[in-house]
Amino acid sequence: MKIRTAVLPVAGWGTRFLPATKAVPKELLPIVDRPAIQYAIEEAVASGIERVILVTSEHKRAIEDHFDISADLEAILEQRGDIEHLRAVRAVADMVHLVTIRQKEQLGLGHAVLMARDAVGHEPFAVMLPDDLIFGATPALAELMEAYVATQASVLGVMRVAPSETHRYGIVDPDTTLPTSDQGRTIPLRGVVEKPDAAHAPSALAVVGRYILGPKIFERLEQTPHGLNGEIQLTDAIHTLAQEQPVVARHFSGTRYDVGSPEGWLRANLHVALDHPVYGPVVRGAVAAENERLT
Ligand code: G1P
Repeated sequence: MKIRTAVLPVAGWGTRFLPATKAVPKELLPIVDRPAIQYAIEEAVASGIERVILVTSEHKRAIEDHFDISADLEAILEQRGDIEHLRAVRAVADMVHLVTIRQKEQLGLGHAVLMARDAVGHEPFAVMLPDDLIFGATPALAELMEAYVATQASVLGVMRVAPSETHRYGIVDPDTTLPTSDQGRTIPLRGVVEKPDAAHAPSALAVVGRYILGPKIFERLEQTPHGLNGEIQLTDAIHTLAQEQPVVARHFSGTRYDVGSPEGWLRANLHVALDHPVYGPVVRGAVAAENERLT
């Protein structure tokens, strides 16, 4: 069955980025010339997604506005003959069919995904965490979809991390009795553990915010008790799912940045700017000038 829906949880407070995120949703902080969340939605559209479900909260209205038509702004740009910007703002509004659901209480990532149950319906769907930006030649979600088509299993996007980093991620438990595929990039799983320390980590493969899940996950989420930090963890529900249905990990090929933190956001800006035909030379020149100033 084709994956046409992506669920994007965006209800969180963005505390790692305060005070920048006091009044501005972290998802709208720009990476060079576009808000961070637009990159995830462009990745979704490039992967064939037709419908995005935003699980949102009361302070996040500006995200919906960004993807809506702004008639006043368009009228002004038209009057001024600013066709380039008119095209850019219209393209954002036309990008994808957007559905918004309010998460009234923030009880964890699993709870946020459960809120989308009725809107998703009885079909497999994608989950994308827009803090995780992945840049590469092929959209990461499209790589997960390839693995889904080949295996008909739920798929978790993973990357390798250092032992000192396992406590920040869901860590997958590979089933070594089953063969891998795609030159070892698609790996059958026994389960997944939320944020284990190095001594308890079943592997060095960390789940990064891209998932393809069957609709059965909603039943498992409903039964999932509060886990780490008192939250309903998506990881715990996926672990239960893996006991009854195949779940695989897909090692994606792009580079991932955590743009929910200032450090990851800065690095993502550099990545995008250095690749840009206009801003690339500007950044290289600016770095050289700053180095000279500091020596
Ligand atoms: C969430 C998930 C975790 C995953 C991570 C990826 O954690 O719970 O399993 O590895 O996203 O970014 P969070 O970063 O929200 O604490």
